Amino acid sequence: MSQKTADLKARHDAVLFPAVTQYYGDSPIAVDHAKDQYIWDIEGNRYLDFFGGVLTVSIGHANDYVTERMIEQIKRVQHTSTLYLTELMVQVAEKVAALAPGRLQKCYFTNSGSEANETAILAARMYTGNNTIIALRHAYSGRTTTAMSITAHGTWRLSPVIDPEVRHVRAPYAYRAPFEMTEEQLIELCVQDFEEVLATTTNGKIAAFIAEPIQGVGGFVVPPQAYFKRIMPLVKEAGGVFIADEVQTGWGRTGSKWFGIEQFGIEPDIMTFAKGMANGAPIGCTIATPEIAEALQGMTFSTFGGNPVTMAAALATIEYIEQNDLLTNAAERGQQLRTHLEALQAEFPYIGDVRGMGLMQGVEIVQPNTKTPDPARTAAFMNAARQHGLLIGKGGLYGNVLRIAPHLNVSAEDIETGAQILAKAAADVAN
Ligand SMILES: Cc1ncc(COP(=O)(O)O)c(C=O)c1O
Repeated sequence: MSQKTADLKARHDAVLFPAVTQYYGDSPIAVDHAKDQYIWDIEGNRYLDFFGGVLTVSIGHANDYVTERMIEQIKRVQHTSTLYLTELMVQVAEKVAALAPGRLQKCYFTNSGSEANETAILAARMYTGNNTIIALRHAYSGRTTTAMSITAHGTWRLSPVIDPEVRHVRAPYAYRAPFEMTEEQLIELCVQDFEEVLATTTNGKIAAFIAEPIQGVGGFVVPPQAYFKRIMPLVKEAGGVFIADEVQTGWGRTGSKWFGIEQFGIEPDIMTFAKGMANGAPIGCTIATPEIAEALQGMTFSTFGGNPVTMAAALATIEYIEQNDLLTNAAERGQQLRTHLEALQAEFPYIGDVRGMGLMQGVEIVQPNTKTPDPARTAAFMNAARQHGLLIGKGGLYGNVLRIAPHLNVSAEDIETGAQILAKAAADVAN
């Protein structure tokens, strides 16, 4: 780390909570500026970005189409609060309702995924009159008290106060299923666990089942195709609604479809969005069926929810994805990336699993020829990729899953460049 970055890091640590940590341990990246697929640090190094600030810069840094619309809007009116009407908020809600599956029709805007999930839980509880929430182990839902309670990674559950009405059931995590089992057996195990948790820890009535279609922070865990179809009737029988947390999987990320849950042929009752919906402008959005939205009665308010500049960014981002057919690009470039990752898996015995959909691909790193997680080698892999000029992320309960998520408008050439760097990094950490 150069003196410049070291000085900034020292100043940072003097005035920010120690909980605000960075990737790359003692050698964090200090970002200077970014454009499209690249980020430059204050040392002048350029990196190809395959993480997008946690799947948030969905169509490239400082994307001209989005930036121009934000600048226009900031000059026109920057803030109104929801106490006044704006054309833009209505336009975004109309767009989301038109693209959302089934009867999802009414939006509530906030500023983050945590808030979007809070709103969803509140609406589900008011609609059903029930309190219990069933969530999946390995979930990540955010950092408010309820979102942290839904989160099922010990490391992210800091709050000493936990929502007592949240229960966790087995996640459909095929690679870490107990014993050697088929996908069908795993689904049966998950169904059994769901039924048992319901029967033993609740009065049989629930407000909601909340799940990420593909678990993000959990390490890009893709459920077996039939999983959600088997769980849905249990949710309905218990009087609950299904909340699909699309914070990572929404807006084309999984390829071919707008929303991750559509990959599993399910219509949720509520969906939540944030991250990639506005290409980096702070946003949260909860969309629900009219009757669920109707049930959220009384005074509730979000000062910055539906902020005009954020709405301009969201509308431009969604239009850009639509106009450039990025759902197809995500599927095709995702397949191209996946082929390279599978080749690496065949070569390196420490790559235990490659999984994901579209431009959301995970690589689980283990002790060679075992399933024992290897977080040290995972961190070394990330560092090696950085040394070669590529930024990727990591996650998973044990910190041993590489998360690779290029922008939705990534080119075939950039995938090749990224794959070459990943191959170099894989070789660097092989011994
Ligand atoms: C699936 C999922 N839901 C919710 C959240 C919380 O979003 P935020 O950090 O914007 O509050 C995250 C954040 O990583 C997430 O990945």
